[in-house]
Amino acid sequence: MVSFSFESALEYLNNFNVVAIPTETVYGLAANGLSDQAVAKIYSLKNRPQFNPLIMHVPSIEMVENWAVVTKLARKLMQEFWYERGASISFVLNLKENHPLSLLALAGLGTVAVRRPNHEVAIKILENLNFPLAAPSANRSNSLSPTSAYHVLQSLGEHVPVLDGGNCAVGLESTIVDLTQDKITILRLGSVTALDLAEFGTANTITDGAVKAPGMLKRHYAPNLTLKMNVIEKEPGMALLGFGNCKDADLNLSESANLVEAAANLFSYLHKIDDASFSSIGVSPIPNHGIGEAINDRLKRACSNN
Ligand code: TXA
Ligand code: MG
Repeated sequence: MVSFSFESALEYLNNFNVVAIPTETVYGLAANGLSDQAVAKIYSLKNRPQFNPLIMHVPSIEMVENWAVVTKLARKLMQEFWYERGASISFVLNLKENHPLSLLALAGLGTVAVRRPNHEVAIKILENLNFPLAAPSANRSNSLSPTSAYHVLQSLGEHVPVLDGGNCAVGLESTIVDLTQDKITILRLGSVTALDLAEFGTANTITDGAVKAPGMLKRHYAPNLTLKMNVIEKEPGMALLGFGNCKDADLNLSESANLVEAAANLFSYLHKIDDASFSSIGVSPIPNHGIGEAINDRLKRACSNN
Protein backbone atom coordinates (compact mmCIF):
# COMPACT_ATOMS: atom_id res chain seq x y z
CA MET A 1 0.00 0.00 0.00
CA VAL A 2 1.54 3.31 -1.07
CA SER A 3 1.96 6.38 1.16
CA PHE A 4 -0.09 5.37 4.16
CA SER A 5 -0.15 8.51 6.26
CA PHE A 6 0.61 8.94 9.96
CA GLU A 7 -3.00 10.03 10.58
CA SER A 8 -4.42 7.00 8.78
CA ALA A 9 -2.14 4.73 10.82
CA LEU A 10 -3.48 6.24 14.05
CA GLU A 11 -7.04 5.87 12.83
CA TYR A 12 -6.49 2.22 11.86
CA LEU A 13 -4.87 1.39 15.20
CA ASN A 14 -7.63 3.19 17.14
CA ASN A 15 -10.16 1.10 15.21
CA PHE A 16 -8.59 -2.23 16.18
CA ASN A 17 -6.92 -2.73 12.82
CA VAL A 18 -3.38 -3.80 12.02
CA VAL A 19 -0.63 -1.51 10.66
CA ALA A 20 3.01 -2.34 9.90
CA ILE A 21 5.11 0.28 11.65
CA PRO A 22 8.82 1.05 11.48
CA THR A 23 11.08 0.52 14.48
CA GLU A 24 14.86 0.78 14.66
CA THR A 25 15.23 -3.04 14.70
CA VAL A 26 12.70 -4.40 12.20
CA TYR A 27 9.21 -3.41 11.04
CA GLY A 28 6.49 -4.56 13.43
CA LEU A 29 2.98 -5.73 12.62
CA ALA A 30 1.17 -3.66 15.22
CA ALA A 31 -2.29 -3.68 16.80
CA ASN A 32 -3.99 -2.56 20.01
CA GLY A 33 -2.39 -4.66 22.75
CA LEU A 34 -5.48 -4.43 24.94
CA SER A 35 -7.76 -6.04 22.38
CA ASP A 36 -7.98 -9.79 21.69
CA GLN A 37 -9.86 -9.03 18.45
CA ALA A 38 -7.14 -6.71 17.17
CA VAL A 39 -4.35 -9.10 18.17
CA ALA A 40 -6.08 -12.05 16.47
CA LYS A 41 -5.69 -10.16 13.19
CA ILE A 42 -1.90 -10.10 13.67
CA TYR A 43 -1.67 -13.87 14.12
CA SER A 44 -4.00 -14.46 11.23
CA LEU A 45 -1.88 -12.29 8.88
CA LYS A 46 1.40 -13.82 10.01
CA ASN A 47 0.14 -17.32 9.38
CA ARG A 48 1.93 -18.64 12.43
CA PRO A 49 1.06 -22.21 13.46
CA GLN A 50 1.56 -21.22 17.11
CA PHE A 51 0.60 -18.39 19.42
CA ASN A 52 3.95 -16.91 20.48
CA PRO A 53 3.63 -14.20 23.12
CA LEU A 54 4.09 -10.74 21.59
CA ILE A 55 6.15 -7.77 22.76
CA MET A 56 4.14 -4.76 23.98
CA HIS A 57 5.57 -1.55 22.54
CA VAL A 58 5.25 1.45 24.85
CA PRO A 59 6.10 5.15 24.79
CA SER A 60 7.14 5.35 28.45
CA ILE A 61 7.90 3.60 31.74
CA GLU A 62 4.74 5.24 33.10
CA MET A 63 2.53 3.24 30.75
CA VAL A 64 4.22 -0.01 31.78
CA GLU A 65 3.59 0.77 35.47
CA ASN A 66 -0.16 0.70 34.83
CA TRP A 67 -0.16 -3.07 34.33
CA ALA A 68 3.26 -4.59 35.10
CA VAL A 69 5.48 -4.75 38.18
CA VAL A 70 8.42 -2.39 37.64
CA THR A 71 11.08 -3.35 40.18
CA LYS A 72 13.96 -1.10 41.12
CA LEU A 73 16.26 -3.08 38.83
CA ALA A 74 13.75 -2.89 35.95
CA ARG A 75 13.39 0.87 36.35
CA LYS A 76 17.15 1.34 36.37
CA LEU A 77 17.63 -0.77 33.24
CA MET A 78 14.75 0.91 31.37
CA GLN A 79 16.01 4.36 32.30
CA GLU A 80 19.52 3.51 31.17
CA PHE A 81 18.90 1.45 28.03
CA TRP A 82 15.68 3.03 26.70
CA TYR A 83 16.23 6.70 27.55
CA GLU A 84 19.98 7.21 27.99
CA ARG A 85 21.42 4.83 25.40
CA GLY A 86 18.48 4.47 22.99
CA ALA A 87 19.21 0.74 22.92
CA SER A 88 17.08 -2.04 21.43
CA ILE A 89 16.04 -4.10 24.40
CA SER A 90 12.83 -5.70 25.66
CA PHE A 91 12.20 -6.56 29.30
CA VAL A 92 10.03 -9.41 30.54
CA LEU A 93 8.16 -8.36 33.69
CA ASN A 94 5.52 -9.83 35.98
CA LEU A 95 1.98 -8.62 35.35
CA LYS A 96 -0.16 -6.90 37.94
CA GLU A 97 -3.43 -8.53 38.87
CA ASN A 98 -6.42 -7.43 36.78
CA HIS A 99 -4.23 -6.03 34.02
CA PRO A 100 -6.09 -4.97 30.87
CA LEU A 101 -3.74 -6.58 28.32
CA SER A 102 -4.94 -9.00 25.65
CA LEU A 103 -4.56 -12.57 26.93
CA LEU A 104 -4.07 -13.68 23.35
CA ALA A 105 -1.07 -11.33 22.95
CA LEU A 106 0.38 -12.77 26.16
CA ALA A 107 -0.37 -16.33 25.00
CA GLY A 108 -1.92 -16.69 28.44
CA LEU A 109 1.36 -16.12 30.32
CA GLY A 110 1.54 -14.23 33.63
CA THR A 111 4.42 -12.13 32.32
CA VAL A 112 4.79 -9.52 29.61
CA ALA A 113 7.65 -8.37 27.36
CA VAL A 114 7.85 -4.57 26.97
CA ARG A 115 9.92 -2.40 24.69
CA ARG A 116 10.32 1.30 23.95
CA PRO A 117 11.46 1.45 20.33
CA ASN A 118 14.22 3.90 19.50
CA HIS A 119 12.53 5.24 16.37
CA GLU A 120 11.03 8.69 16.02
CA VAL A 121 7.98 7.58 14.03
CA ALA A 122 7.24 4.64 16.33
CA ILE A 123 7.50 6.82 19.43
CA LYS A 124 5.28 9.48 17.89
CA ILE A 125 2.63 6.85 17.07
CA LEU A 126 2.81 5.41 20.59
CA GLU A 127 2.60 8.83 22.21
CA ASN A 128 -0.60 9.51 20.29
CA LEU A 129 -2.35 6.34 21.42
CA ASN A 130 -3.54 5.50 24.90
CA PHE A 131 -2.72 1.80 24.65
CA PRO A 132 0.43 -0.27 24.00
CA LEU A 133 1.01 -1.83 20.59
CA ALA A 134 1.47 -5.58 20.42
CA ALA A 135 3.81 -6.19 17.50
CA PRO A 136 5.82 -9.14 16.21
CA SER A 137 8.11 -8.68 13.21
CA ALA A 138 6.05 -7.82 10.14
CA ASN A 139 6.74 -10.90 8.08
CA ARG A 140 5.04 -14.18 7.45
CA SER A 141 6.14 -17.04 9.65
CA ASN A 142 9.46 -18.53 8.49
CA SER A 143 10.49 -15.65 6.27
CA LEU A 144 13.18 -13.06 6.85
CA SER A 145 12.61 -10.17 9.22
CA PRO A 146 11.65 -7.01 7.34
CA THR A 147 13.96 -4.02 7.57
CA SER A 148 12.19 -1.83 4.98
CA ALA A 149 8.61 -1.05 3.98
CA TYR A 150 9.29 -2.94 0.75
CA HIS A 151 10.21 -6.12 2.65
CA VAL A 152 6.88 -5.94 4.47
CA LEU A 153 5.03 -5.57 1.21
CA GLN A 154 6.93 -8.53 -0.27
CA SER A 155 6.19 -10.76 2.69
CA LEU A 156 2.66 -9.78 3.70
CA GLY A 157 1.24 -8.40 0.49
CA GLU A 158 -0.53 -5.22 -0.52
CA HIS A 159 -3.52 -5.51 1.78
CA VAL A 160 -1.42 -4.77 4.89
CA PRO A 161 -1.00 -1.01 5.41
CA VAL A 162 2.61 -0.02 5.96
CA LEU A 163 3.73 3.22 7.52
CA ASP A 164 7.02 3.88 5.75
CA GLY A 165 9.74 5.08 8.12
CA GLY A 166 12.73 4.27 5.96
CA ASN A 167 15.24 1.48 6.48
CA CYS A 168 15.69 0.09 9.98
CA ALA A 169 18.99 1.30 11.41
CA VAL A 170 19.69 -1.75 13.59
CA GLY A 171 18.19 -4.49 11.45
CA LEU A 172 18.34 -7.09 14.20
CA GLU A 173 15.54 -7.92 16.63
CA SER A 174 15.81 -6.55 20.17
CA THR A 175 17.68 -8.27 22.96
CA ILE A 176 15.14 -9.84 25.36
CA VAL A 177 15.91 -9.87 29.06
CA ASP A 178 13.84 -11.65 31.70
CA LEU A 179 13.61 -9.64 34.96
CA THR A 180 10.75 -11.59 36.55
CA GLN A 181 13.04 -13.23 39.13
CA ASP A 182 14.74 -9.91 39.93
CA LYS A 183 17.93 -11.08 38.28
CA ILE A 184 19.07 -10.62 34.70
CA THR A 185 18.43 -13.52 32.33
CA ILE A 186 19.00 -13.00 28.61
CA LEU A 187 16.41 -14.87 26.53
CA ARG A 188 17.40 -13.57 23.11
CA LEU A 189 20.56 -11.80 22.07
CA GLY A 190 20.39 -8.67 19.95
CA SER A 191 22.53 -5.57 19.73
CA VAL A 192 22.59 -5.27 23.53
CA THR A 193 25.07 -7.87 24.78
CA ALA A 194 25.72 -9.71 28.05
CA LEU A 195 28.72 -7.43 28.53
CA ASP A 196 26.52 -4.32 28.26
CA LEU A 197 24.28 -5.75 30.97
CA ALA A 198 27.07 -7.03 33.24
CA GLU A 199 27.57 -3.68 34.98
CA PHE A 200 24.02 -4.00 36.37
CA GLY A 201 24.47 -7.50 37.81
CA THR A 202 25.33 -10.99 36.67
CA ALA A 203 23.60 -11.68 33.37
CA ASN A 204 22.91 -15.31 32.52
CA THR A 205 22.01 -16.29 29.00
CA ILE A 206 19.51 -19.01 28.16
CA THR A 207 20.41 -20.24 24.72
CA ASP A 208 18.24 -23.31 24.38
CA GLY A 209 15.71 -21.60 22.15
CA ALA A 210 13.07 -21.54 24.89
CA VAL A 211 11.90 -18.15 23.69
CA LYS A 212 11.75 -19.11 20.05
CA ALA A 213 9.40 -21.91 21.00
CA PRO A 214 7.64 -20.37 23.99
CA GLY A 215 5.07 -23.13 23.98
CA MET A 216 7.90 -25.12 25.51
CA LEU A 217 8.30 -22.63 28.34
CA LYS A 218 7.45 -24.18 31.69
CA ARG A 219 5.32 -21.26 32.72
CA HIS A 220 2.79 -21.29 29.95
CA TYR A 221 -0.90 -21.14 30.53
CA ALA A 222 -2.75 -24.39 31.15
CA PRO A 223 -6.24 -24.81 32.63
CA ASN A 224 -6.63 -26.65 35.95
CA LEU A 225 -9.40 -28.88 34.64
CA THR A 226 -8.74 -31.78 32.29
CA LEU A 227 -9.24 -30.74 28.71
CA LYS A 228 -10.52 -32.89 25.85
CA MET A 229 -10.49 -31.87 22.19
CA ASN A 230 -12.85 -32.76 19.35
CA VAL A 231 -15.80 -33.26 21.65
CA ILE A 232 -19.10 -33.80 19.85
CA GLU A 233 -21.18 -34.88 22.80
CA LYS A 234 -20.90 -33.36 26.23
CA GLU A 235 -20.05 -35.75 29.11
CA PRO A 236 -21.60 -35.39 32.60
CA GLY A 237 -20.01 -32.50 34.51
CA MET A 238 -18.20 -31.30 31.43
CA ALA A 239 -18.08 -27.63 30.42
CA LEU A 240 -18.30 -27.38 26.66
CA LEU A 241 -16.37 -24.73 24.77
CA GLY A 242 -18.18 -24.72 21.46
CA PHE A 243 -17.32 -23.68 17.94
CA GLY A 244 -19.90 -22.99 15.26
CA ASN A 245 -23.39 -24.39 15.54
CA CYS A 246 -23.25 -26.09 18.93
CA LYS A 247 -26.36 -26.00 21.08
CA ASP A 248 -24.85 -27.55 24.26
CA ALA A 249 -22.00 -25.06 24.51
CA ASP A 250 -21.44 -23.29 27.85
CA LEU A 251 -19.36 -20.75 25.96
CA ASN A 252 -18.90 -20.54 22.20
CA LEU A 253 -15.57 -19.47 20.66
CA SER A 254 -17.41 -18.37 17.53
CA GLU A 255 -21.03 -19.13 16.78
CA SER A 256 -20.49 -18.14 13.16
CA ALA A 257 -17.52 -20.57 12.93
CA ASN A 258 -15.09 -17.71 12.33
CA LEU A 259 -11.54 -18.85 13.19
CA VAL A 260 -10.15 -15.35 13.78
CA GLU A 261 -12.95 -14.66 16.24
CA ALA A 262 -12.30 -18.03 17.91
CA ALA A 263 -8.60 -17.21 18.29
CA ALA A 264 -9.48 -13.86 19.85
CA ASN A 265 -11.69 -15.55 22.44
CA LEU A 266 -9.52 -18.61 23.12
CA PHE A 267 -7.47 -17.60 26.17
CA SER A 268 -10.11 -15.49 27.89
CA TYR A 269 -12.78 -18.21 27.43
CA LEU A 270 -10.41 -20.93 28.67
CA HIS A 271 -9.87 -18.82 31.79
CA LYS A 272 -13.60 -18.32 32.25
CA ILE A 273 -14.57 -21.94 31.73
CA ASP A 274 -11.78 -23.34 33.94
CA ASP A 275 -14.14 -23.35 36.92
CA ALA A 276 -14.20 -25.87 39.76
CA SER A 277 -17.94 -26.26 39.44
CA PHE A 278 -17.25 -28.34 36.32
CA SER A 279 -15.30 -31.62 36.25
CA SER A 280 -13.65 -31.21 32.83
CA ILE A 281 -13.53 -29.02 29.74
CA GLY A 282 -14.52 -30.25 26.31
CA VAL A 283 -13.81 -28.32 23.12
CA SER A 284 -15.67 -28.73 19.82
CA PRO A 285 -13.63 -29.74 16.77
CA ILE A 286 -11.74 -26.75 15.33
CA PRO A 287 -10.90 -26.84 11.60
CA ASN A 288 -7.14 -27.22 11.25
CA HIS A 289 -6.42 -24.54 8.67
CA GLY A 290 -5.32 -20.91 8.83
CA ILE A 291 -5.24 -19.66 12.40
CA GLY A 292 -7.12 -22.85 13.37
CA GLU A 293 -3.76 -24.62 13.36
CA ALA A 294 -2.47 -22.33 16.13
CA ILE A 295 -5.69 -22.85 18.11
CA ASN A 296 -5.33 -26.63 17.88
CA ASP A 297 -1.64 -26.43 18.80
CA ARG A 298 -2.56 -24.48 21.94
CA LEU A 299 -5.35 -26.91 22.85
CA LYS A 300 -3.07 -29.93 22.37
CA ARG A 301 -0.57 -28.45 24.81
CA ALA A 302 -3.37 -27.87 27.31
CA CYS A 303 -4.36 -31.58 26.94
CA SER A 304 -0.82 -32.84 27.46
CA ASN A 305 -0.75 -31.04 30.81
CA ASN A 306 -3.53 -33.23 32.12
O1 TXA B 1 12.96 -5.90 17.79
C1 TXA B 1 11.97 -6.56 18.10
O2 TXA B 1 11.89 -7.09 19.23
C2 TXA B 1 10.85 -6.72 17.08
C3 TXA B 1 10.25 -5.34 16.80
C4 TXA B 1 9.05 -5.40 15.91
O3 TXA B 1 9.92 -4.71 18.02
N1 TXA B 1 9.84 -7.62 17.52
C5 TXA B 1 10.01 -8.97 17.56
O4 TXA B 1 8.87 -9.68 17.93
O5 TXA B 1 11.05 -9.52 17.29
P1 TXA B 1 8.71 -11.23 17.73
O6 TXA B 1 7.26 -11.53 18.05
O7 TXA B 1 9.19 -11.65 16.41
O8 TXA B 1 9.58 -11.85 18.87
C6 TXA B 1 9.18 -11.67 20.21
C7 TXA B 1 9.85 -12.68 21.10
C8 TXA B 1 9.32 -14.07 20.89
O9 TXA B 1 10.39 -14.96 20.72
C9 TXA B 1 8.55 -14.35 22.17
O10 TXA B 1 8.57 -15.70 22.51
C10 TXA B 1 9.25 -13.48 23.18
O11 TXA B 1 9.57 -12.32 22.46
N2 TXA B 1 8.38 -13.11 24.30
C11 TXA B 1 7.32 -12.29 24.29
N3 TXA B 1 6.73 -12.23 25.49
C12 TXA B 1 7.44 -13.04 26.31
C13 TXA B 1 7.33 -13.41 27.67
N4 TXA B 1 6.37 -12.94 28.46
N5 TXA B 1 8.25 -14.29 28.17
C14 TXA B 1 9.24 -14.77 27.38
N6 TXA B 1 9.38 -14.46 26.07
C15 TXA B 1 8.50 -13.62 25.55
MG1 MG C 1 10.04 -12.60 14.54
